[in-house]
Amino acid sequence: MKDKYKRRHFLENVCPQVALAMFGVTLVEACSKGDDDSGTYSGTSDEITGYTVNGNSVSIDLDDTSFSTLQSRGWMNFRQQNMLLLKLNDTTYRAFTNSCPHAGSRNAWSYNDTQERFVCSSHNNSYPSDCSTPGTTDDVLECYDTSLMGSTLTVTKS
Ligand code: FES
Repeated sequence: MKDKYKRRHFLENVCPQVALAMFGVTLVEACSKGDDDSGTYSGTSDEITGYTVNGNSVSIDLDDTSFSTLQSRGWMNFRQQNMLLLKLNDTTYRAFTNSCPHAGSRNAWSYNDTQERFVCSSHNNSYPSDCSTPGTTDDVLECYDTSLMGSTLTVTKS
């Protein structure tokens, strides 16, 4: 195989982010498909602060900058604990598994404010955020118990 052909073949098969990085453009995200909920944290690694785990309970400091996306956008994929967080108002939050009921994708979520449902772009199924109404796959997105004390949100996984 000639060098020119090999180089072209490589560029056609490498993910766009890696190709851009090769040309000096900063590599921001990994190359996983459907990874469209990238705004869940502002750091460059998956290490974040502002939460503690005690058994099946997770305590979240809502004032921590790691959770600023939740405050500004109204939801976030808390990947470190595999949960979606949703802010309904200053005193009401909900938490869900981030495992899509359809086939388990965890990182393809967006939120449709108008329809009040999470949308998984892996196969375009969606799930209401009321913890009881089935989504397009006839499954309910699993909801976790939440309680708020001051600026600490405690989520208890079932
Ligand atoms: S895995 Fe989410 S729609 Fe298929």
